[in-house]
Amino acid sequence: MPFVPRCRACWRRERRDAAPAEGLLNAPRPPTPAPQGDGRVAYRDAVGSDVEALSAFARETWVATFGHLYPPEDLSAYLAAKFGPAIQRAEMEAGGRFRLAFDEAGLVGYCMMGALDMPVDDARGVELHRLYIHERGKGARIADALIEDAIGWARARGAGAIYLSVWENNERAQRFYRRFGFQDHGEWKFMVGATADRDFIWRLPL
Ligand SMILES: CC(C)(COP(=O)(O)OP(=O)(O)OC[C@H]1O[C@@H](n2cnc3c(N)ncnc32)[C@H](O)[C@@H]1OP(=O)(O)O)[C@@H](O)C(=O)NCCC(=O)NCCS
Repeated sequence: MPFVPRCRACWRRERRDAAPAEGLLNAPRPPTPAPQGDGRVAYRDAVGSDVEALSAFARETWVATFGHLYPPEDLSAYLAAKFGPAIQRAEMEAGGRFRLAFDEAGLVGYCMMGALDMPVDDARGVELHRLYIHERGKGARIADALIEDAIGWARARGAGAIYLSVWENNERAQRFYRRFGFQDHGEWKFMVGATADRDFIWRLPL
């Protein structure tokens, strides 16, 4: 059967109608803890004043990872739709949770958690939307710290599972997620402009 792309807004609207994890995400947030670190890398939740730096970093790391895969018009459309201070601010205000990692040079990684935005029917599911480490921080266990924190965040909200979408050829990310117990759940088409990528949907039961 030919694949018929559906806009992500449709999924979002359906999720909102189904009102699945809203209760989880609207639970009162604990106060933002002070940065914790091992002396080299410090971690903390993002606050409103981080949106400029966060959106620039998110854009930069997405382009560094995937930018070469798409025609310029698809890339531009995706970046315009996904990254910018107003967009990241709206994601935060909608319950998205950004955990940031800083090294001596500044922001070196982040992880975004939030409500499901994928074709998954699980009222107790949450989504790991993005996990990005700057090239200088890869292999330094910064991603480990961020995902462990994300799992703790999801558990603290009573989530039953974490879902994520990973590109079929993103071998490094797949090896990473496997190490933390994520399992195959399905696949879908992830749209970047008019380009449809095959992404795997993986699930971590909590
Ligand atoms: C995915 C990511 C968060 C993992 O963090 P990391 O610090 O690089 O993690 P690691 O160095 O532990 O590497 C993960 C695994 O990939 C392996 N790996 C390292 N370099 C690799 C490469 N070039 N190709 C394939 N696998 C590689 C590691 O050996 C490790 O394997 P193991 O877990 O079986 O020991 C990080 O690489 C990243 O930010 N990538 C770009 C953004 C991205 O792809 N995000 C995920 C989107 S779904």
